[in-house]
Amino acid sequence: MSYNVSNLLYLITIVTFVLALRFLSNPAHARRGNQIGAAGMVLAIVVTWVKVGSTSWWAIAIAMVIGGGFGAVAARRVRMTAMPQMVALFNGVGGGAAALIALAELHRILPDPGAPKIDISLGIVLSALIGAISFAGSMIAFAKLQELIGGRPITYAGQQFVNGALFVAALGCAIALVAGVQEEWLLWITIAASLAFGVLFVLPIGGADMPVVISLLNAFTGLAVALGGFELQNNVLIVAGMLVGASGTLLTLMMARAMNRSVANVLFGAFGQVSETAAAVAGGDGGAVRSATAEDVAVMLAYAHKVVFVPGYGLAVAQAQHDVRQLADLLESKGVEVSYAIHPVAGRMPGHMNVLLAEANVPYPQLKEMDEANPEFSRTDVALVVGANDVVNPDARNNQGSPIYGMPILNVDDAQTVVVLKRSMNPGFAGIENPLFYNPKTVMLFGDAKASITSLVADVKNL
Ligand code: TAP
Repeated sequence: MSYNVSNLLYLITIVTFVLALRFLSNPAHARRGNQIGAAGMVLAIVVTWVKVGSTSWWAIAIAMVIGGGFGAVAARRVRMTAMPQMVALFNGVGGGAAALIALAELHRILPDPGAPKIDISLGIVLSALIGAISFAGSMIAFAKLQELIGGRPITYAGQQFVNGALFVAALGCAIALVAGVQEEWLLWITIAASLAFGVLFVLPIGGADMPVVISLLNAFTGLAVALGGFELQNNVLIVAGMLVGASGTLLTLMMARAMNRSVANVLFGAFGQVSETAAAVAGGDGGAVRSATAEDVAVMLAYAHKVVFVPGYGLAVAQAQHDVRQLADLLESKGVEVSYAIHPVAGRMPGHMNVLLAEANVPYPQLKEMDEANPEFSRTDVALVVGANDVVNPDARNNQGSPIYGMPILNVDDAQTVVVLKRSMNPGFAGIENPLFYNPKTVMLFGDAKASITSLVADVKNL
């Protein structure tokens, strides 16, 4: 395939990636976006495969069958609640691949007399360094989320010093290579030190903060891949890597902002530790809690004018999305106005609630983002909180001492009645008490969300 033809086809691929991102920004078109992106990726792979020529096509084919087979089976089998660790795994192998390409490329060019040009050597060392950090960090994130290792922040004395020393070692060897020292072992040390740095950098971060870390590491992988594009002089790698890098960076910033925390606080704040202490102090002395039966709540819902569902992480755990949809349909058939209020960091990954509700075919116009939903609560009869906790905690508004003070929340306490579906008085992700549960407007319906919603459906039908 000529250089011009392959570059033209790569250009088409680049356009599909940009279009895919555009379509993915709206749940109504997200599936189409995914398909466009996948089609572009297939084109990029085929063009690269043909370009490589006859020498190693079979080696690439074997790798593709193994990698593609594993990816397809894993993606089909994964539970929605395990999606963050799946993303960590896929992201990590991307970073690892970038580091391996750097190693192979240096090995290929080193026997040539004269140092590699600076644009090539810089691409090689940076993609090795960043790719290895991303690989190792993502594997630790995966292990924490999969509970292969404890999710609690792991801290020890001298941690910052060890991290600093490893990073300086990796950077020093990388600089020596760029400066013209033609020794392959320098890159091996860069990679080994970066791997150790990646592990030690992520270990002190609490398991629940992993989605933010994964998003950041995703940005790292994008950067490593883009740099790999410079070393291989491949335009599609440069653009695709930069798209991943930019979107990962934006997502990281958006998630941190929605939690009202800086990225530095997520990375270095050992939030899990703070929250565990807070959980220990939170003894539930906030006053009386009113609990209700499903029959009581069914009456409130059936005779309401407007009901707003507020889903949270518990909805994902209970896998109650289809039952929620059934209850909403039933209420609508009785003339109740129904909508869903979606907090940007409800659940454990970006768009978690949107994905769950889309799976249950909830009509998109009924999904209201926080800014649109909040003014509506004052004219809402019942706010039905399904497994959400932190994202409806009024302490974020009122209590300056709270670890989540300043985080924007869904103002469910503006509704006439708040019904909270959860199993116990246990705290959520932040590990803190929630005064909403003690609000005289609030009634608790204790139990697994799926079981509670199923009872509500049966009781509303009987009315
Ligand atoms: P959480 O505050 O974590 O609360 C979830 C609640 O669901 C828990 O209190 C739990 O109470 C309940 N629950 C669990 N399983 C249940 C089940 N089977 N049936 C009924 N209830 C169940 O969730 P949230 O309100 O969605 O807030 C999300 C939190 O995660 C925020 O603090 C956010 O900052 C953080 N976070 C989010 C993201 C993204 S991107 N979404 C990333 C990192 C961190 P019981 O145990 O009593 O049932």
